Amino acid sequence: MPEIIFITTSGDEMRASIPVGTTLMRGAIESGIDDIRAECGGVASCGTCKIILDEANQGKISPASAIEGSMLEDDPSGYRLSCQIVVDPTMDGLVVRVAPAEY
Ligand code: FES
Repeated sequence: MPEIIFITTSGDEMRASIPVGTTLMRGAIESGIDDIRAECGGVASCGTCKIILDEANQGKISPASAIEGSMLEDDPSGYRLSCQIVVDPTMDGLVVRVAPAEY
């Protein structure tokens, strides 16, 4: 199982082993990463599951879909919806930062 390293909004590092085929959002929640609230349940409509990828990691994830992109149009580069990213074996060791809450 790929291990994903989450940097929480308080700066803590939390590691989550997430099965291939599971979304980053679901894996984070099931690993107790509370900063990912995912209020819409993963249908790309709430924005409360945002993560930030640094520039070096942005190319390791498939590009955002049109729906995801529309949710991120006001965010800086590197922001993604974790509910729209499906874990694959190449993501082992990926570091993501949980985006600060917007309200
Ligand atoms: S869980 Fe709502 S946008 Fe991702």
